Amino acid sequence: MRDFNEKTNERRATDKTSGVGGRFITFEGGEGCGKSTQIRLLAERLRAQGLQVLLTREPGGTALAERIRALVREIGEDPPNARAETLLFLASRAQLVENVVRPALAAGTWVLCDRFADSTFAYQGYGRGLNLTELKALNAFATDGLVPDRTILLDVPPETAAARLRAREQTTQTAADRMERAGDDFHARLKAGFLELAVAEPERFAVIAAEGSVESVAEKVWNSIRHML
Ligand SMILES: Nc1ncnc2c1ncn2[C@@H]1O[C@H](COP(=O)(O)OP(=O)(O)OP(=O)(O)O)[C@@H](O)[C@H]1O
Ligand SMILES: [Mg+2]
Repeated sequence: MRDFNEKTNERRATDKTSGVGGRFITFEGGEGCGKSTQIRLLAERLRAQGLQVLLTREPGGTALAERIRALVREIGEDPPNARAETLLFLASRAQLVENVVRPALAAGTWVLCDRFADSTFAYQGYGRGLNLTELKALNAFATDGLVPDRTILLDVPPETAAARLRAREQTTQTAADRMERAGDDFHARLKAGFLELAVAEPERFAVIAAEGSVESVAEKVWNSIRHML
């Protein structure tokens, strides 16, 4: 069910022409753009179509990977530097892909993942300034070449994301984590980086302007994947 593209040196998650096997869809974008909100709605809608759906997230999605998630988010006395942070994210990804995502896809389940490889390229590459070519090679090792069938990039103006995060902190009584506390420059680089990644792979990415209502964004997300059914 997987093919290998000689030209791009990438294996697609599934063979789109076979109609066999699940589809692998990832949600990307900066904090507060609405990934977790929209991924839940898409999962519900796909289940309503009778599909088997697995909803997971990065970092996390397995017991080990959730422990790594806690490590990268905490604001401790010895925060990971950019390279250590990258390797922690990649360890989480390797565990999730081999133990959870590939078996699910092979069983015909649709896998929806809240963040994936593009977050590494955006945060550690465009955000923290690590070399993108090196990051792509490391990521290919971690995933053993698994690439999403579709990546939904939710794009919002920084003010919208900041307002949503403030509202979320108030309603859930949670404080901003280490990533959320990074400065405005960092978040501007992230946003531009995500858009640059999308421009480079237009057939994989759907870039969705996500500042409208939850329902209107959900409709755009649905329209960007319905051809895969
Ligand atoms: N279209 C929308 N309009 C208004 N509020 C929204 C919209 N989408 C999401 N929200 C709210 O904004 C907050 C952030 O949304 P959500 O948690 O889905 O973002 P996220 O991209 O998953 O963020 P993070 O990267 O921090 O996990 C939540 O409180 C959510 O209820
Ligand atoms: Mg979220």
